[in-house]
Formats: sequence, C-alpha cells, structure tokens
Amino acid sequence: MSETTFDKDRARAFTSRMLGILNDGALSLMMSIGHKTGLFDSLDGNPPASSQEIAEKAGLDERYVREWLSAMACGGVVDYDPESEMFSLPDEHSGLVTRRAGPRNLTVQMQQIGMLAEVEDDLVSVFENGGGLPYDKFPRFQALMSDSSERRFKSGLIEQVVPLLNMTDALQSGIDVADVGCGSGLASYLLGQEFPNSRFVGFDMSNEGISRANDTAKDLDNVSYQVADAAALNQDPSFDLVTTFDAIHDQAKPKDALAGIFAMLRPGGTYLCVEPKASSVLEENLEDPMAPFMYTISTMHCMTVSLAYGGDGLGAAWGHQLATEYLNNAGFKDIKVEGIRHDPGNNYFISTKPTS
Ligand SMILES: C[S@@+](CC[C@H](N)C(=O)[O-])C[C@H]1O[C@@H](n2cnc3c(N)ncnc32)[C@H](O)[C@@H]1O
Repeated sequence: MSETTFDKDRARAFTSRMLGILNDGALSLMMSIGHKTGLFDSLDGNPPASSQEIAEKAGLDERYVREWLSAMACGGVVDYDPESEMFSLPDEHSGLVTRRAGPRNLTVQMQQIGMLAEVEDDLVSVFENGGGLPYDKFPRFQALMSDSSERRFKSGLIEQVVPLLNMTDALQSGIDVADVGCGSGLASYLLGQEFPNSRFVGFDMSNEGISRANDTAKDLDNVSYQVADAAALNQDPSFDLVTTFDAIHDQAKPKDALAGIFAMLRPGGTYLCVEPKASSVLEENLEDPMAPFMYTISTMHCMTVSLAYGGDGLGAAWGHQLATEYLNNAGFKDIKVEGIRHDPGNNYFISTKPTS
C-alpha cells in the first residue's frame, strides 16, 4: 500500500472507533449485570452515595459493587465525585437503565449480549461447517424473551396495538384469536384479561414457553395454550384474528407458517404480523442506529435457529419488502404497515384474508 493512498485520519478515527467498540461491548455486559442485580434501580432517584451504602441498599457484595461502579463511572454511565468518593445516577440516564423506564430500558436488551456469548464457540463451528444452533443451545432464551416482551406488551399492547386493528368492538363482543409463536404467552394473557368475551389460544413449539404461559394464565378461562409447530398448524378457518410477534423470521419454514395462518383465519379475518423494522436492502439499513445489534442478534440467534432445523434462515433483517412479498404469496391482500411509539424497532403489518 503506498503512503499517498493511506488515509491516516481515517485510520486514527477507526482506532478510536475500535476502542469504543471494545469498551462498549464490555460495558454492555456490566450494564446487564446492573439490571439483573437491581443496581440501577437502587441508584434511581437517590442522592450520591458511597459504594458501601449502594451495596447495602442493593443487598450485594461491596467489593463487586465498587468495581462495577468504577466501570460505570469510567463509562460515563454514573457520576463520580472524587472528593467524597460518592456515586450517583443522573436523572438524564435513569430513563434508559431502570425498570421504571419500561420499554425504554435498554439494559434488558443488553442481557442478550451475555446470552449470545455463551454460544460463541458453537457459532464459530457453524461458520466453518454450515448448519445452525437449535433452541436448546439457548437455555435462557424463553426467560429473556419474556422479560423483554413484558415491557413491550404491558406498555403498548392494549393502548397502542389494539387500536391499530380497528377490532375493539369485535373483541369486546367476543371473537376467536390465536397468537402463533406466542413464547411465554403474555400477549394472549393481557388480551384475555382485557376482553373476557373473546377466546385466545397461543401456539408455540417451546415446552418451556407454553409451560410458563400456562402458569401465567391459569386464572383465565378464555385463554389457553398449545405446544405446536407453526409450520403444521392444520387448524380449521375458525379464527377472526391471528397475531405473530417477532415469530416469523426465525421460523424454519416461514412460508408454511404463513400458509397455515392464512388457512386458520375466517374469510375477512385479520392477521397482525409484527417483525423487526428493517429494509431487505442492506444499504438502506446502514444508517439505522440499531442495525449492528439487529444483524448480530440475527446471526447469533434468529438466523441460526432457523438454519438448525434446515430452514430458510431469513434473519431478523429480512425487511419489509420481503415480508410483504411473503404475506402476498400466502394470500394476504391490502397489507398496511404501521408502527407504535412504544415499540419503534418493529413494523406492524396488518392484512386481511379476502372474503372471496
Ligand atoms: C422471538 S420469539 C417471540 C416470542 C413471543 N411472540 C414474544 O414476542 O415474546 C419467537 C418464538 O417463536 C417460536 N417458534 C420458532 N419456531 C417455531 C415453530 N416452528 N413453531 C412454533 N413456534 C416456533 C419460538 O419458540 C419462540 O417462542
């Protein structure tokens, strides 16, 4: 490489970017620990305190808490006063790192970094040999997904998602609703509570997800769950509304799942398909601030689980163009793409099954 073509400023800028990546990757793990241990919640709204006081309040070991606080201070997450040796969480930061922040709490997503690190060596081997990693390689997945979905569903499902469907009267009168790839089933549970005259059934292939769902909804007569493969649902056209929340792109056979969803809807029935907000064209995602995270989660989870079952491996960033094509090919027409304030990372595709 000649001296004249080597851009030293670009190299310097990339050095700084690399250091940022290294530090921020490390901080993500520490912030995930801050979420799990409740440290951010202990700091929330409180005056500056010593590591001893913070550890006592959180019921944690002081030596670990002091080291964690040092990482947070050096990372610009908490403030540190060297004179008093006190730490505090600025109000301007607490809205993104505490349980109080609900769906805006990004430390919930940071838990995924640690989960994915557990399969790093297995992934290296599928990079070399092809194939994928099945769900049982991710024993923490259902619990983590449930934590993440809880915030999203509790803050937005009834207030923001239901109005998009224009079906509130029907839900109040009593209709049949299915949630495919329901995970721990919280969406059906919340809808079942809100609309006691309607009947809700959740389908998922995960025994753990369905068992959690059954525990959560045991008091509701109008909500049930079944272990089922979404690619072989084989249901009669007996549903007025079917939903999938982030549950198509990681399917092994998404086309079969969509065909099954189309078949189980009554004519005129509605399908709500929630999928990550992305373009199918890579260059249109380059400026998306969440795109590196999305492609990482996709490579290390969504795409690899699909490939593990011989699937299409669509990936999380399969994008709205390809999603629309899949929905059209399954028979859905007049597809509207909506979004909600509390869930900016997802597109809400709403379509109906034609009546003739
Ligand atoms: C990303 S999670 C979303 C879970 C849930 N909808 C939510 O938002 O919390 C995708 C879910 O799809 C389920 N899934 C994947 N492939 C499936 C299949 N072939 N049949 C049924 N469920 C499947 C997984 O078990 C997982 O619970």
